[in-house]
Amino acid sequence: MTTIIRGGTVVNADRAFRADVLCDGDKIVAVGEQLDAPAHATVIDASGQYIMPGGIDTHTHMQLPFMGTVTADDFFTGTAAGLAGGTTTIMDFVIPNPQQSLLEAYHMWRGWAARSAGDYTFHVAVTWWSDKVHEEMATLVRDHGVNSFKHFMAYKNAIMADDETLVKSFTRALELGAIPTVHAENGELVFQLQQDLLKKGITGPSAHPLSRPPEVEAEAANRAIAIANVLGTPVYIVHVSCAESLDAISRARAKGQRVYGEALAGHLVIDDSVYQSADLEFARGHVMSPPFRSKHHQAALWQGLRGGNLHTTATDHCTFCAEQKAAGQDDFTKIPNGCGGVEDRMSVVWDAGVNSGLLTPSEFVRVTSTNAAQIFNMYPRKGVVAVGADADLVVWDPEGTRTISASTQFAKGGFNVFEGRTVKGIPSHTLHAGQVVFAKGELRAVEGAGRHVDRPAFTKTHA
Ligand code: URP
Ligand code: ZN
Ligand code: ZN
Ligand code: ZN
Repeated sequence: MTTIIRGGTVVNADRAFRADVLCDGDKIVAVGEQLDAPAHATVIDASGQYIMPGGIDTHTHMQLPFMGTVTADDFFTGTAAGLAGGTTTIMDFVIPNPQQSLLEAYHMWRGWAARSAGDYTFHVAVTWWSDKVHEEMATLVRDHGVNSFKHFMAYKNAIMADDETLVKSFTRALELGAIPTVHAENGELVFQLQQDLLKKGITGPSAHPLSRPPEVEAEAANRAIAIANVLGTPVYIVHVSCAESLDAISRARAKGQRVYGEALAGHLVIDDSVYQSADLEFARGHVMSPPFRSKHHQAALWQGLRGGNLHTTATDHCTFCAEQKAAGQDDFTKIPNGCGGVEDRMSVVWDAGVNSGLLTPSEFVRVTSTNAAQIFNMYPRKGVVAVGADADLVVWDPEGTRTISASTQFAKGGFNVFEGRTVKGIPSHTLHAGQVVFAKGELRAVEGAGRHVDRPAFTKTHA
């Protein structure tokens, strides 16, 4: 398969320039003006459009068994929805149950992910500690292309990692050249606040944000950063949702600590008024952790992205349908936590970020693709339009518009937190591994065409 994309403006994180892009097989083989192409090459006209590296969503949960159910999108439907939105690689999570072998869980997730239409790679969660976990972390790094480990500081009585686990796992990650990541919320405080609210008879979804105020997130972010500082390891904080957590990251970075932060498309544009809706199905549909916050926090997140203290954008794509969410109709603590977005992130961030002047197109590429590739050691295979990189590309129409709706989305679950939002800036074409998988609204995702992306350990100099 040979494809030439002609007449567009290539946008990388470092610069934008006029060039054609020639892809042969699954690689980019030439980038330059007026390129020659073989007669049989497929030609895509990108005049008036941008050619950008395919998006990397650093945080998804396809086919996740969670809170007594399984997410609506599996690895095929979820990655296909990503391709429709210009995301060509997802970073998903292997989440072993406490006492379960990390390797056993990893192989289970790899089996599920074999159906993916786009590329995928895994962070592996450390949910408990033992000598076996210590050994299996090494096997995952050396033999299975894993270089990031996740720690849930929330979800008490389920997958929460206590301080002993954090300290031991961060230490081990550093030894192995892997990066620890955290879901920063103090799980003890969340549990206590949930019980207090239930005792007062406050059982609906409006209680969800009350049980997870910004201080609960900030305490955990500060703790994870402090632990990483003492141990001398970098740390990556997923779904930073509030100004207080961002302040913790900014303070640490100002002192030279290597701390990275991720913002979710949803946290950037949706506010906490959704939990006050009289339509309880709608309110439950927005229950995720950390919750949506006020506009003050949204403004802080944009500042963090622009100022370089937040590095990636993701979705935490974790879809549940209304029936699944209804498990918590009498008790908000039983509402499966999670929302979608993998199909919408690129357009939402472009529309709210670039069209408003908050981000330049190159900054957009940095926070939707390049930084993710660099932080998680996929660069320059991913994250850049350059000779030798994977031919994962999005041809971006800055004038194209789409009104986001569950009724027209490819993702499953029948709900969309961005419902009714009209975005300007959409993919006209997505290429994955050199194949045109999305063209002007038509999705051509192929089940099983996605590849696992091995991510080697960092050299010792990284920490
Ligand atoms: O509510 C969320 N975010 N669900 C998915 C699991 C997690 O915490 O990332
Ligand atoms: Zn194995
Ligand atoms: Zn989380
Ligand atoms: Zn998550």
